Amino acid sequence: MNTMPKLIVANWKMNPATLTEAVRLARAEDRKNVVICPPFPFLRAVGAALRRAKLGAQDMFWENPPSGGGPYTGEVSGKMLRSLSAHYVIIGHSERRRWLGETDEMVNKKVLAALKAGIKVILCVGESLAIRRRGMAVAKRFVRNQLMKNLKGIRGLWSKTRNLIVTYEPVWAISTSRGAKDQDNADTPDDILQMIRFIKSILASRYALRDMRIIYGGSVNSQNVQNFLQYKDIGGALVGGASLKAKEFKKIIRIVTKLNHHG
Ligand code: PGA
Repeated sequence: MNTMPKLIVANWKMNPATLTEAVRLARAEDRKNVVICPPFPFLRAVGAALRRAKLGAQDMFWENPPSGGGPYTGEVSGKMLRSLSAHYVIIGHSERRRWLGETDEMVNKKVLAALKAGIKVILCVGESLAIRRRGMAVAKRFVRNQLMKNLKGIRGLWSKTRNLIVTYEPVWAISTSRGAKDQDNADTPDDILQMIRFIKSILASRYALRDMRIIYGGSVNSQNVQNFLQYKDIGGALVGGASLKAKEFKKIIRIVTKLNHHG
């Protein structure tokens, strides 16, 4: 049996459309070792519906009012998330980097603020298709660079770094990234494992962080989840599209629960 159970993070993105649907989906997906990340307006109701799963947000801002200048219309602080019992936050998702102009520096500020606030960070890193086409060595260089920029200054937060989870999510592997919703774009288990081990080695050598949880994201579904999670080094999965279909998500959880019990 693995010492660290696999973790499944449901990234609902900007879905579902209504609060009623969100609560229904949350009830269906409420299992141990699951983190549900709904949009901000549904956090409170989803949190109240969960008994076994943990609550997470999809983003947060780096300042906490009243300190830190501002005001910052539209933003949400770590303290606010804590007050809703959101224990996790996804930071640096590629869609935010792409559509909202989030830079590595902004991601870094958010990572530090979340760790200071005592929220577990699910940091997303991963290369684009153009980079990957230039080979695995180029992709690794890109990921290392991103990681180092995003984690700048975490040494000062030594005791809090247990709250860090890194997600390797190659941008091109995200189910909607090629405009084909149900297409399986997932990376191969071999390449994922190689990259995850590489990320582990950076965390160990640069930050003396060992036994960190690194998870994979990108087109994970009930057909392929076992291929990834059978490896001890892959600590879980970030699931987008498949987390919006209760039946499919439950299948994933069933497979992962079995893995968690039998190793
Ligand atoms: P996907 O999304 O599972 O639909 O590929 C993953 C993500 O973007 O977090």
